Amino acid sequence: MNILVTGGCGYIGSHTVLALLEAGHKVTIIDNLCNSSREVLERIKNITGINELTFVEMDIRDADGLEIVFNHYKFDAVMHFAGLKSVGESTKKPLEYYDNNVGGTAILLNVMKHANVKTLVFSSSATVYGDPISVPISETAPTGGTTNPYGTTKLMIEQMLSDLYASDQSWNIARLRYFNPVGAHESGLIGEDPGGIPNNLMPYITQVASGKLDELSVYGDDYDTADGSGVRDYIHVVDLAAGHLKALDKLEGLATYNLGTGKGYSVLDVIKAFEDVNDIKISYKIAPRREGDIASCYADPTLAESELGWKANKDINQMVRDAWNWQSKNPTGY
Ligand code: NAD
Ligand code: UD1
Repeated sequence: MNILVTGGCGYIGSHTVLALLEAGHKVTIIDNLCNSSREVLERIKNITGINELTFVEMDIRDADGLEIVFNHYKFDAVMHFAGLKSVGESTKKPLEYYDNNVGGTAILLNVMKHANVKTLVFSSSATVYGDPISVPISETAPTGGTTNPYGTTKLMIEQMLSDLYASDQSWNIARLRYFNPVGAHESGLIGEDPGGIPNNLMPYITQVASGKLDELSVYGDDYDTADGSGVRDYIHVVDLAAGHLKALDKLEGLATYNLGTGKGYSVLDVIKAFEDVNDIKISYKIAPRREGDIASCYADPTLAESELGWKANKDINQMVRDAWNWQSKNPTGY
């Protein structure tokens, strides 16, 4: 297929572009590079040996530019990763988040409609479940109760997509709710490159391991979990990318899938796995809970397995190994 990937230079987009190319698809990336680097393109070509990868540096809010690109390339489908994703930043700059994520998606959908490209795979998040009533979380669990503008943008886009589908059932739309993507391609050539001090656990750990940061703060040891620290469903980014290909293959109508492993690991579990696999000590201290955090969040991933034939294969040891492989080979990112 001929596929447009928005945000394809970013962390998850780049791993998915790689998988799409390896599966024989034709790919065009649109990215404004606000949180990524052009260097990603060379790395992807290097890993795959495939040079036919088109890149257009453009903002998805540029409706006229998008229209020209759609008219020229005649896409069959769109994978939409472009957006802003920092929870903390979204509380300080809510309008930028609503404009980029919600506004940007509305513009993209309009252009798709005019170009009669009605197949879309969208990057949603487990954040739409808010503080879940129970775990594991299935797709039928209530959504809402998001605690920050970032999460609310994902919820609003999900709603926009279901309204769009209700108005015109010739669309095929997958809303993929990611749990906690971590790790990197096993080559160590592409990976997560957060600017500044990371907010998320895994990049923080790898930067403590490399000596870039002194010490990890474990946010809370008094949650109602086995060891008191927060529990999450970490999923290897290569597994996550594979889920997008399966969703594209099987896509029919409006569908929503959790992409997680179904297993929960605590912060202390992740530290221990990292130390054991990589043979590096992680210096940490117990700190107060982080505002907006929940105790436990992990997926019931069985729907994606039964309907898409997709299942995460890589375990926590592979996640911490590949996260460290990427960080140690690219200490300053791209
Ligand atoms: P990322 O920041 O690495 O990638 C996003 C890419 O989109 C970047 O390359 C950025 O330059 C680009 N971009 C942003 N706004 C744009 C715009 N207006 N026009 C064109 N390009 C634009 O983030 P990621 O971790 O790869 O996440 C991809 C998607 O998955 C995002 O929508 C994110 O909200 C969602 N998601 C991520 C996580 C996670 O933990 N990483 C979890 C759940 C959902
Ligand atoms: C966060 C976002 C979520 C987003 C997801 C993926 C919040 C409240 N939620 O999820 O909306 O979809 O990232 O980008 O920010 N931890 C520490 N020390 C750290 C960092 C994290 O102990 O320095 C703990 C957290 O308390 C949590 C776990 O590690 O228990 C995972 O945290 P993180 O990687 O930030 O992801 P989430 O909070 O699950």
